Amino acid sequence: MSDPITSMLREDRVFEPSAHFLENIGAIAVTDMASYTRMYRQSIDDPTTFWGAIAKDFHWYRPFSTVVQWNAPDAKWFADGTTNVCANCVDRQVQSGHGDEVAIIWEGEPCAPEPDVRRLTYRDLQRDVSQTANALKSIGVRRGDIVTIYMGMVPELTIAMLACARIGAPHSVIFGGFAPNAIVDRVHDAKSKVIITCDGGWRRGSVVPLKKNVDDACEKLPEVEHILVVQRTNTPVTMRAGRDLWWHEIVAAQSTECPCEEMNSEDLLFLLYTSGSTGKPKGICHTTGGYMVYTAYTAKTTFNLVAGRNHVYFCTADIGWITGHSYIVYGMLPNRVPTVMYEGAPNFPAEDRFWAMVARHKVTHFYTAPTAIRAFMKWGDQHPAKHDLSSLLLLGTVGEPINPQAWIWYHQNIGAARCPIVDTMWQTETGGHIITPLPGCTPTVPGSCTLPFFGIDAAIVDDKGEELPPNQGGLLVIRKPWPGMLRGIHGDRDRFIETYWSRIAGMYVAGDGARRDERGYFWIMGRIDDVINVSGHRLGTMEVESALVSHPAVVEAAVVGMPHEIKGTGIAAFVTLAPSFTGAADDSLRRQLAEHVTKEIGAIARPDMIRFTALLPKTRSGKIMRRLLRDIAAGRDSTQDTTTLEDFTVLAKLRESDE
Ligand code: WTA
Repeated sequence: MSDPITSMLREDRVFEPSAHFLENIGAIAVTDMASYTRMYRQSIDDPTTFWGAIAKDFHWYRPFSTVVQWNAPDAKWFADGTTNVCANCVDRQVQSGHGDEVAIIWEGEPCAPEPDVRRLTYRDLQRDVSQTANALKSIGVRRGDIVTIYMGMVPELTIAMLACARIGAPHSVIFGGFAPNAIVDRVHDAKSKVIITCDGGWRRGSVVPLKKNVDDACEKLPEVEHILVVQRTNTPVTMRAGRDLWWHEIVAAQSTECPCEEMNSEDLLFLLYTSGSTGKPKGICHTTGGYMVYTAYTAKTTFNLVAGRNHVYFCTADIGWITGHSYIVYGMLPNRVPTVMYEGAPNFPAEDRFWAMVARHKVTHFYTAPTAIRAFMKWGDQHPAKHDLSSLLLLGTVGEPINPQAWIWYHQNIGAARCPIVDTMWQTETGGHIITPLPGCTPTVPGSCTLPFFGIDAAIVDDKGEELPPNQGGLLVIRKPWPGMLRGIHGDRDRFIETYWSRIAGMYVAGDGARRDERGYFWIMGRIDDVINVSGHRLGTMEVESALVSHPAVVEAAVVGMPHEIKGTGIAAFVTLAPSFTGAADDSLRRQLAEHVTKEIGAIARPDMIRFTALLPKTRSGKIMRRLLRDIAAGRDSTQDTTTLEDFTVLAKLRESDE
């Protein structure tokens, strides 16, 4: 029987712009498809005029005289301009008389008897960020030093990021769900001497031992000089004298004045590590001017944000991922629309937490992931039905293709059939949205992310870079530079070129398969590399394999994605045990291995299925036949050509062991 949630129900209905949205949004960003087409053409044909005009709305110390310089794969945007991202997020709002408006609405996870809510105005931010920036300086952080941040979703996380931006110290935020080993690799690669963390973080009523994880990581990181610790859970932690400092002690002692560093447009703003198909996670580099302009402008346009119209925007992502960087922090603050930041789990204390928050804060814009929507569906319609969601004007999704059932459920149960849904396709590397509907403008079809954003010359091509006719699947590429694009992989020029630019000369290859339909709409079909998208989070299959083979019982492992009701893609691991291992290949070993992966990487990498096999199917040249394993994991009968299989019996054995 097909699964009611993940099976691909065909849904050909076209949803025209919503009258309710048009009447209530305040001012429409892009009014109709003719305007979209005209603006899109200009953005591609004359990026200098298009982006030059948008970038002029920001504060620059020294105005730029060139907009874009392109020598594939290297782009420079606004190269001779100087600016500061923190100044544009915070100081500018204060200076223009909006200092007392709410910038961040933060809600902690514990909520008995009352929810713990903090509202920070732009003026509060200016003070706290300045003090934090001074604290960083006082412990030796200088312009250009990369600061690692490993925290829960507390206001101090945003403050820490902005403080880094203020003094020109790029940050590297590590998702708080990662294990100590993941911290080691990233801190090492970034050569950070300072880590900012919390004593602990709240997650589903329990405390995640953040400081303890940093301590464990630091056993392998003698180069770390200081750890700044925010007190959040008040759980006991070890503070090593001379190295570890309490945030509340050192920050409070600082001056509230800290000038913003005048940064070059192409100075590094942050690194964010993401999974690739091979090797260790790569530090994606985003620079100052282009990223600032692109994230703020995409946020303003895709979400149709209007300052001063009581818009309240809630993105449920964690700031440890790019979605949180771009669309909780950097894209939001320059638009002067309050951004909601939530600390904890969607089902704590109950499955209606997000809906209670939407009602409490009168959220107008709600942005989440398909995996979350599928969980909401499973939890039941009664949860949203209990709350007043009438403030909502717009819904968004990100992270993976949305299945039409989830789209329709979201539309009806959350959006009361009157809120547009923007299915935003983008990547850590792209900085901001690249393919997305514009609300009130683009007709939507469930499951399609529709049309390219301004400046994005997206196409579906074959291996030679030739554009394919409608409905033929191929590679998603971008043929021209855009302001938010990655500028490199930290410390690895070869990998940067190899990963994105070597397959087709002069084109950015996104790593996704996709097709365009007759109306030009894009349909993303999924990753074409060994990256799997688990609950909207990117994982390299190699990372999980390395974690598995680091267990003494395992000699070889192959990891593939498999369909999963809630996660979209789950993790299937095929494991060959070491001859020296004499124990039983049973559920207890499966649990041990799953625990081991959690300990090595984090809970997001925990396999959903582990299958033991004496041998893995390989080609004659020794490559593991992953497509075959994917079919087996999905329970499909493989019709694929297996003539290159080294040992046919392996396949038969794997089939036999099907549970
Ligand atoms: C996938 C997340 C279909 C895609 C912002 C991409 C999507 C990867 C969508 C990037 C979408 C993201 N429709 N697929 N709307 N959004 N993806 O770097 O495979 O964590 O390459 O960035 O997620 O994941 P990342």
